[in-house]
Amino acid sequence: MCGIVAYVGTKSCAPLLVEGLRRLEYRGYDSAGLAVHGGNGIEIIRAVGKLANLDAALAKNPLAGTVGIGHTRWATHGRPSEVNAHPHAAGSVAVVHNGIIENHVELRKELQGRGVVFASDTDTEIVAHLVDEKLRKGAKSLEEAVRQSLTHLRGAFAIAVVWKDAPDEIVVAKQDSPLVVGIGDGETFAASDIPALLAHTRDVLFLQDGEMGVLRKGGFTLTTFDGTPVTRATKRIDWSPTQAEKGGYKHFMLKEIHEQPRAVEDTLRGRIDLERGDVLASEIGITPETAQSLGRVYFVACGTSAHAAMTARYWVEQIARVPAVVEIGSEVRYRDPVFLPNDLVIAVSQSGETLDTLAAVKAAKAQGARVLAVANVLDSAIPRAANGALYTHAGPEIGVASTKCFTTQLTALLLVAVYLGRQRGTLSADGGRRILEALWHAPGLMRTALDEEAALKAVAKKHLRARDMLFLGRGPNFPIALEGALKLKEISYIHAEGYAAGEMKHGPIALIDEEMPVVVLCPKDSHYEKTLSNMQEVRAREGQVIAVGTVGDHELAEYAAKGGVDVISIPAAEPEILPLLTVLPLQLLSYFMADGKGTDVDQPRNLAKTVTVE
Ligand code: G6P
Repeated sequence: MCGIVAYVGTKSCAPLLVEGLRRLEYRGYDSAGLAVHGGNGIEIIRAVGKLANLDAALAKNPLAGTVGIGHTRWATHGRPSEVNAHPHAAGSVAVVHNGIIENHVELRKELQGRGVVFASDTDTEIVAHLVDEKLRKGAKSLEEAVRQSLTHLRGAFAIAVVWKDAPDEIVVAKQDSPLVVGIGDGETFAASDIPALLAHTRDVLFLQDGEMGVLRKGGFTLTTFDGTPVTRATKRIDWSPTQAEKGGYKHFMLKEIHEQPRAVEDTLRGRIDLERGDVLASEIGITPETAQSLGRVYFVACGTSAHAAMTARYWVEQIARVPAVVEIGSEVRYRDPVFLPNDLVIAVSQSGETLDTLAAVKAAKAQGARVLAVANVLDSAIPRAANGALYTHAGPEIGVASTKCFTTQLTALLLVAVYLGRQRGTLSADGGRRILEALWHAPGLMRTALDEEAALKAVAKKHLRARDMLFLGRGPNFPIALEGALKLKEISYIHAEGYAAGEMKHGPIALIDEEMPVVVLCPKDSHYEKTLSNMQEVRAREGQVIAVGTVGDHELAEYAAKGGVDVISIPAAEPEILPLLTVLPLQLLSYFMADGKGTDVDQPRNLAKTVTVE
């Protein structure tokens, strides 16, 4: 998730662009840069690290000009470095980009075949070369060249392009990444998000997917990719800058909960081959021979990431038929563990920096095991220490309690399980296709599940006085119950425990009385009947049930009609996808309970987002 800004007007644009980038800092960044058209040509300045470094570079080498583009990069392809920082140039063109070009490998090869030499490892540089090529081959305008280039791109992108021979314009385009244009008085802006514009204008226009346009001093012309003119009125934004950063949501956590369908789409982008029922992820770095000779998959992780690993354990065993274990990082490192050369250790970490997980990775590598990292932050310590890395592409997560990083970890780990299953021959092409098609449709189902927000708010209100809560689930929904309990305690400070539903009778049942809300995960899966009996055991002891069930489940509805049970629906889905859905109501429930209690939802007491201490 990067941030882009663009300006065409009469003011010196460099300070204005940097200020805009500062307003997009919440999107995360590891490097930043500007390209400014000075009238005679385009000058580019880039710097790794904080925006202050870009400021320092600009102080040494000020960029004069009133037309420019800027970028804060949160790396997804190519490590954070000056060379990989945007803008990317080719010939007399410079480009900034937010998103992921899905077919970048293929396009890079094609361009290299035509003699193009790449300066960076990014997918973005491809766009610069394509536009430059079109201009050299006679495209009549920058707009025309960008339009032609777009026909080659697959994936998600918001781009802004400047060209030496068009000193008064910037061309922008959008597909599956956000882009908003701001209309000022004699000046026009574009940015990834509203906060970058608010200091200058509150009249904005949101581009839709498949639309592009030209920014000029006097205004903005909007068309579809195929050139059909579009008329759209501007909207007036009256949010404060802080409200704008949260996209109008009260907290980053709530915003991130709602970002999950999009985040999962980004995790899947370019990695699914439905035709072959297989996963395209060479970055996993496991040959068919290694996959076939695997003795064990050994997950290491902490906190929420450990719950993602626990869920994935079911998938790896069922789909790839390899024994799998999960250990929390802090235990592995002091347990003198035994790793074997045919172990695949999968380290799961959103930050990629958790010290305990990193120590476990080092121990595993020292004993000759192969390590795959599943992480969100590119080039962080755990992926660097591992043999291969599969990134989740969730974008930066700001709320301390992890939400979108969790569901994207689940997505990436299900891809790994399918990949191993296909390589080991335990999963047929048809079987792979069934799971991958279900994954492909998961974001839509997640959106439907999130529509239960109002119902969850009401349920949360009812239980605000709860001192303890229990979460029950079976199979892959057992770790989801653990995650629901963790979320609740993290942000609402209510004591909560997750339990395997079948284990309830071995202890926690003693806690149940009319004061105890019990969340039961009972979607229609192979565990349904058994979980429903557990729910009845709770009701028999007057426990207040919050049941997460499949929409249209009459049996559950009939049961709920007797009282004491609130039902929250999720859509019907293939069994592998259910954890991606059942966790959503639990996140929202925790959120509304915490917000109802007035806690600091985004920065709960005593917790840290990245834990680099023991
Ligand atoms: C901290 C965070 C959790 C996270 C855990 C593991 O406790 O607050 O949200 O799950 O660390 O972090 P990792 O970055 O390794 O996923």
